[in-house]
Amino acid sequence: MEDIKGRKVLVTGGAGFIGSNLVERLAKDNKVYVIDNLNTGSVKNLEAAKKTGNVTFIEDDIKNIAKHNLDVDLIFHLGMYSSSPMYKNNPNLLNEVVEGNINILEYVKQHKATMVFASTSSIYNGVTPPHKESIVPPVSDYYTEGRISAERLSELYAKLFGANIAAMRFFSVYGWHEEAKKEYANLVTQFIWAMKKGEQPVIYGDGLQRRDFVFVEDVVDALIKASVIKGFDIFNVGTGKSYSLNELVDKLNNAMGTNIKPKYIKMPTSNYVMETLADTSKAEKLIKFKSRIDLDEGISKLLVGK
Ligand SMILES: NC(=O)c1ccc[n+]([C@@H]2O[C@H](COP(=O)([O-])OP(=O)(O)OC[C@H]3O[C@@H](n4cnc5c(N)ncnc54)[C@H](O)[C@@H]3O)[C@@H](O)[C@H]2O)c1
Repeated sequence: MEDIKGRKVLVTGGAGFIGSNLVERLAKDNKVYVIDNLNTGSVKNLEAAKKTGNVTFIEDDIKNIAKHNLDVDLIFHLGMYSSSPMYKNNPNLLNEVVEGNINILEYVKQHKATMVFASTSSIYNGVTPPHKESIVPPVSDYYTEGRISAERLSELYAKLFGANIAAMRFFSVYGWHEEAKKEYANLVTQFIWAMKKGEQPVIYGDGLQRRDFVFVEDVVDALIKASVIKGFDIFNVGTGKSYSLNELVDKLNNAMGTNIKPKYIKMPTSNYVMETLADTSKAEKLIKFKSRIDLDEGISKLLVGK
């Protein structure tokens, strides 16, 4: 695929899991600025990318973007609080997310920059799969309301000021650099951590809940492909296949040569999501994104290491 070359790019949340994988790829051929408040990110994630000499790390909140006098015309915006339980504990995080988004959108407007940002498949909570971008999202939780507002504000800036913005609804992303996320890391990664220690992976309910697991390298591809966006649009970033958590544990046992049974515990919430599954046709058609790494390959990549 075509990579972006010779550009000045900003990655917000670039010290986080997905952001740092993106920075690593972009830093080969571009000058990359990272703004991250290190809430769940870690500068360790940027070690490899920094070796290129092309990465400038700024520890700050994205709401302060204007004070840094950056000269970038392409923004990958992933720097938003990244997990639903964080908001349950502190609903005012939503104010932070909206303030950050408005300040980035003002930058986009003033600098005529293009933006590609992290939305979420949580928007489909309560919707029967497969999930299409065109649904009207039901009310679900604080985290999701923040991303719906990010999508709608982006569409507003496209409509009022001609901004070019792509909203990327990530499904269940797993891959390298998840250590700093700790208990918020993806289940694939958390199960590997547990099983490597000989511990039972913990599953809510009966393990029949299904997830569309997408490997982080595919997500990075999708973000880069979406940077040609004109106007505003929304794209699913998934594989179009889902696996139950029981199937995931079987795959991990096969790949690791273990025979560890999961530990089943009571569902913690009443609105637990039973299946996520992306309809991938729109992204395939409009930005030519199709995931290439299936769950078996992703697991073996993680087990072998980079
Ligand atoms: N991992 C997934 O499966 C998944 C699924 C759907 C959506 N997303 C979204 O993708 C984005 C990246 O997620 P991730 O999995 O890499 O999580 P992450 O927590 O590793 O990354 C988020 C990064 O943003 C930083 N950040 C948060 N708020 C910030 C702020 N106000 N100012 C500056 N930096 C801030 C954090 O410190 C962290 O480094 C997030 O917005 C997340 O909600 C992730």
